[in-house]
Amino acid sequence: MGFMHTMNNTAALQVAPASRDGFSSRFGVLAATLGSAVGLGNIWKVPYLTGANGGAGFLLIYLLATLAIGLPIMIAEITLGRRAQSNPLTAFRRVAPGSGPWWLTGLLGIAASFLIIAFYSEVGGWVFAYVLQALRGTLTSTDPAVTQAAFERLTRDPAQSLFWQWAVLLLIGAILMAGVTKGIEAVTKRLMPLLLILLIGLCAVSLTLDRAREGLHFLFAPDFHRITVGTVLVAMGLAFFKLSIGMGTMITYGSYYRADQNIPATALRVMLADLTISLLAGIAIFPAVFTFGFAPASGPSLVFITLPAVFAQIPQGQWLMSVFFILTAFAATGALLSLLEVPILTFQELLHLKRRQATLLTLMLLVLPSAGAALSLSTLSSWRVAGLNLFDLFDYVSSNILMPLGGVLLALFTGWVWGAERLGNALSNQGRLSNGGLARAISGLLKYVTPILVLAVMASGLGLLSFLGA
Ligand code: PHE
Repeated sequence: MGFMHTMNNTAALQVAPASRDGFSSRFGVLAATLGSAVGLGNIWKVPYLTGANGGAGFLLIYLLATLAIGLPIMIAEITLGRRAQSNPLTAFRRVAPGSGPWWLTGLLGIAASFLIIAFYSEVGGWVFAYVLQALRGTLTSTDPAVTQAAFERLTRDPAQSLFWQWAVLLLIGAILMAGVTKGIEAVTKRLMPLLLILLIGLCAVSLTLDRAREGLHFLFAPDFHRITVGTVLVAMGLAFFKLSIGMGTMITYGSYYRADQNIPATALRVMLADLTISLLAGIAIFPAVFTFGFAPASGPSLVFITLPAVFAQIPQGQWLMSVFFILTAFAATGALLSLLEVPILTFQELLHLKRRQATLLTLMLLVLPSAGAALSLSTLSSWRVAGLNLFDLFDYVSSNILMPLGGVLLALFTGWVWGAERLGNALSNQGRLSNGGLARAISGLLKYVTPILVLAVMASGLGLLSFLGA
């Protein structure tokens, strides 16, 4: 490692200022990591997937997947990133030189990041467009047919879809150009607390509605009849998507972590806070949905068609709706920052680019995939693979294939190649924390349990085991 390290350090010194940009305070680390985890996933995906898969039974499986699979992978990724002090492509070679083509895991992650950004920025665009419409009062109608028409005007119009998507991408690009401390950390430190306050306010209103109990019952009383192997795969994919793992984001952010940060404690806090925000979003949404007699399983349109009609029936609904979409926009911002940071850091370090150049290159490479997602409901709606349009395809492939696969490779690498000892050393901040038992447990999980579990869920969920009758 010595030689490589010296070489890399020398190379880094030539292009970068004396020290690497990074998060400056412990709260900054927490806010940025939480900013990545909390996103459209909490507000758009968790509620609609819960609705479509039978409520609390699904949530329970998601929770199990988060604890057994998500958390160990998240801890390993952050630790790897901090130890390597590099982008996800170089990280594997840095910590275990000569160990073979593990860097391909990083490449897979970067590919996944482009697919996710493509559809995520589109939904982000809808959210920003809705903020404006909500504030102006043009969304206020109790008739879902009207709110549906409004949604379709936005999504079926190629020019509008592209406009809002790029408004968001350029905003994110501008924040990222300001740097890690002055961009990512400064923004997430302010947005995350605000988001939480706004969300708690909305929950308080929702819980006072007539049929709040039915909504809570739907969310918290499990119904296992609707659970299939496909559901389990979706719940596991959601765990990966929610924690931003299996595609290099946590390696990237880990490389900005402070040397004295307690990684397992931070990861646990992020996971718990993220879960709480998902549940709060459910508590804000479902009681209102039930009170006004809508069906909870109305798919991705729950947020964009059902909710506006629901808000329109509540006193002061226009303002509550504005608050809702503003907090959703905050959530999308933190997640997008972390998604774009993956290719940006990689280009910056690999091609020796300045941050600004790496950001512009990333945005340029996003033109085609993001247009694919933005136009999938209009111009390109006939482009389908296995019945899915490009938007749904990017979503399905990234959450249910690329991220779990990245997670398996990362687990195998950490467990078998990097090894318990080096992981333990990095995890304990070189012996300053006494968490040796935890390190051994995590490494054991990553070696044996995680890969088998994830591969089994993937194989059965994707129907690869159908010949066994599974
Ligand atoms: N965790 C984010 C969300 O739930 C999405 C995300 C995935 C962000 C992968 C970064 C990387 O919305």
